[in-house]
Amino acid sequence: MMRRIKSFARASACREKFERSNFSLWLKLGIVQICHELSKWGIIYRKKLFKFFLKWSDCMPNFKQSLRHFAKRFIQTCFAIIISFMLLNISILYAEDKMETIKLPKPKLKSNVSLEEAIEKRRSVRSYSSKELTMEQISQLLWAAQGITDRRGYRAAPSAGALYPLEIYILNKNGLYHYIPEGHILERKSDKDLRSDLARAALGQHFVEAAPFDMVICAVYERVTLRYGQRGIRYTDIEIGHAAQNVLLEAVALGLDSVPVGAFRDDAVSRVLNLPKNEKPIYIIPVGHKR
Ligand SMILES: Cc1cc2nc3c(=O)[nH]c(=O)nc-3n(C[C@H](O)[C@H](O)[C@H](O)COP(=O)(O)O)c2cc1C
Repeated sequence: MMRRIKSFARASACREKFERSNFSLWLKLGIVQICHELSKWGIIYRKKLFKFFLKWSDCMPNFKQSLRHFAKRFIQTCFAIIISFMLLNISILYAEDKMETIKLPKPKLKSNVSLEEAIEKRRSVRSYSSKELTMEQISQLLWAAQGITDRRGYRAAPSAGALYPLEIYILNKNGLYHYIPEGHILERKSDKDLRSDLARAALGQHFVEAAPFDMVICAVYERVTLRYGQRGIRYTDIEIGHAAQNVLLEAVALGLDSVPVGAFRDDAVSRVLNLPKNEKPIYIIPVGHKR
């Protein structure tokens, strides 16, 4: 059972990675463009194509034989395409095989703290004890940020056009992890404690290092601007606010404290997290127990 969960988690992580990559985006756009061009040519040259087909079938002494020849070639081509796609998938899976993934506990949907109480109690806290967060608490915070809450794949925070431009990273004493909503899993990016580096990048705000847990919300603006143009930047920034507020309120519901941090050097945070070029860090949220 555990092996099946692990392999499912790994497969989800790989799929997510492929989906997030620019390669996937360009592949999809390329296929759409090719289909569009082919259909255009088909319409423009339809008469010529028809004439060519008639001529071709006339030339063939035996139509049945030519049809068989064509079917054979067609099947061979299909096989070649399927095998190359399989090889591509296998190579992605193989490359990601060594990646460590952690299946998070299932999020709880009941709490002793009402939404109203959470809104009232939420306060920015900048002094934390060293008490660690449990795996259940980490799971719950990630679920509140970007967890999948609907069978159609919709998430805890609203997203313009359901394009989901946010990527969530967490840091604790065990390392740096990336959250994958599909499968509710974490993939380990580093086994180093990077909180002191993150605090330095956040202009020396010491509580970023002192907190047992830091969440960093990043955005891939292109996912939204590709559809909505410049307005996609505004949509993405609004969405970050939705996700962050969910995390702050969830922290209160769990009896934890937090503070949203916007003051940091973007390039320094990107370096600490080793972010891909298209992912921009927008918000840091330290979470822990108030000292
Ligand atoms: C966009 C944004 C950026 C913020 N950046 C920081 C920050 O860099 N450091 C910090 O200590 N607090 C930061 N805060 C928290 C505010 O200082 C805090 O929300 C404000 O003092 C009100 O207090 P409250 O959160 O307890 O209601 C930020 C808040 C927002 C909304």
